[in-house]
Amino acid sequence: MWLPLHTRRYVRYSEAMDENQGSPKEERANAFKTLIGKVYFHRVPSYGNTIFYSLGFLALTCLTVLVVTGITLAFMGQTWWLTNPWGIYVRSVHLWTVQAFIIVLLAHILVGFMTSGFRPPRRMVWVFGATIFCLVLIQTEFGYGLRGDFSSQYRAVSGADFWNGAHLGYWLNPLNYTQAFALHVAIIPFAIFALFIAHYLLEHTYGIARPYRKDVPYTMVAANHRILFLRGGVLVALILALAALFHSPYVAPVRIADVARKDPGLMMTTLLAEFDRTSDTATYFDSIDPYTFDTRQVYITAPYEQYILDNGNQDAWAAFENEPADLQQADLQQAEAYANATDTSAFASSTNPVIVMLNTLVPMAQGGLYESLLNQENPTANNTYVLRFLDDTGALHAKAASLDMSTAEWGMAKDETGSVFKLPPGSWWLLPLGMINSAFGLLSNPYGDRDAAVILGLIMLLFVAFPYIPYVNRLPKLLHLAPFIWGRTQGKRPRQAEPENERADTA
Ligand code: HEM
Ligand code: HEM
Repeated sequence: MWLPLHTRRYVRYSEAMDENQGSPKEERANAFKTLIGKVYFHRVPSYGNTIFYSLGFLALTCLTVLVVTGITLAFMGQTWWLTNPWGIYVRSVHLWTVQAFIIVLLAHILVGFMTSGFRPPRRMVWVFGATIFCLVLIQTEFGYGLRGDFSSQYRAVSGADFWNGAHLGYWLNPLNYTQAFALHVAIIPFAIFALFIAHYLLEHTYGIARPYRKDVPYTMVAANHRILFLRGGVLVALILALAALFHSPYVAPVRIADVARKDPGLMMTTLLAEFDRTSDTATYFDSIDPYTFDTRQVYITAPYEQYILDNGNQDAWAAFENEPADLQQADLQQAEAYANATDTSAFASSTNPVIVMLNTLVPMAQGGLYESLLNQENPTANNTYVLRFLDDTGALHAKAASLDMSTAEWGMAKDETGSVFKLPPGSWWLLPLGMINSAFGLLSNPYGDRDAAVILGLIMLLFVAFPYIPYVNRLPKLLHLAPFIWGRTQGKRPRQAEPENERADTA
């Protein structure tokens, strides 16, 4: 029967809606059945009960486990998750669920791509889903930052460089633990949840996409929820078992005290670089300059003045300040020679105020007091000063290289295990970032972080907007990959024409 276009759309929409409504009788009988009736898919195309269309549910299962384990971790705190056997187990479940989540999501994306499941009117289903995927990748890095081991330190420093390169350093600073915590346990999960609701409501309204070719046979069948939950149960059991067998790694973090004890000369040269504002932090530029603090004030005068206030020593800083500029320069040069000398006996009775300060600060650092004072200078649990100082010493990069996890070694993908083949795996999903770095020679480029952020940002944008990009969005149809998914069902031709809500919109 001929109907005007707008009426046809209305019929299709209402039929699609009916497909997922529960029985009105049941709904009135029981509140939970009413809710389930509203949320479930009730009728699906015959291929809709295969594993390929359970992937969205499996992703939701992972998200639920992540929220439950994540809230437990946040509630119990860092000491618990690093030292208590149950804490280590829950942390490992969280990590293995992330691994499962990303594998499931990649498979879910592949099915959506191969079957052109993003065609109108489902384009926004893809857009919401793809945005979730980008947020999940970001979420993993903030998660590693919370762990509290060496990996957290190294990833935080590399991540900060990346965000600074992306011009977002002011808003996203992984060196600030409080901020990373808020982002990881509240802000990003909330955004993911909101996007998921939008994703699911749309998909539930439209139903599973029908084949894009008329000659693909299918029937409409009842959705099999039993098999769906069985698959979810198997996945959770697998995660729990893997977490029991292979714990999330822990390598002790680097402390300033370790550097100062192991190599006092390095400690001194770093302090001097902070003093005369020539350190990496003092001269940091990466398309924006987020480290606007004065390194002399933060790393030298503030801890030193605090120390002499408590101990009543003579104020070498005041003496230095009162000197003429040329004498200050000479003092700094002599202090440089002192820091690099193998035999320091010639400086034993030196009254050079810079050397006096070094001789106060280095023992303070060796005893752990210096790091505590730096932390006190930050108003909240913010590790920016400590981590930037450690980065200036070069100790973080040296340790990362010794563990095979420097950026040049594509180390994030290996985590602290030093090998891609050891379990649990690192964040292998960052391999494309390593490839971009190598392919474009970004590691040796002073603007490398900015360029990597721009390239990655563009890739993410193309990925999110994919259903809206003309011609490119036809690629899956041209490749004709869908039979691999649909071909598993030998359904009969439908007895009556099913609503194909997408056909009118593609026309
Ligand atoms: C938290 C993450 C996600 C959850 C919980 C989720 C959940 C779901 C569910 C339950 C469905 C319906 C059944 C199914 O096809 O499995 C679905 C469909 C869909 N999802 Fe997702 N999804 C997520 C992420 C994504 C991502 C990252 C993408 C793509 C970039 C995506 C694209 C799609 C598409 C295109 C469909 C429609 C498939 C069709 O009708 O043939 N989703 N999603
Ligand atoms: C998309 C969801 C999430 C992803 C991808 C994710 C990812 C991660 C990763 C990769 C880690 C490091 C794991 C390790 O130490 O081995 C982590 C840690 C952590 N996550 Fe999540 N997470 C998610 C959701 C949540 C939620 C919802 C919360 C809390 C409400 C949470 C709280 C935590 C806490 C407290 C830690 C630090 C403890 C630890 O190291 O495991 N996470 N997360």
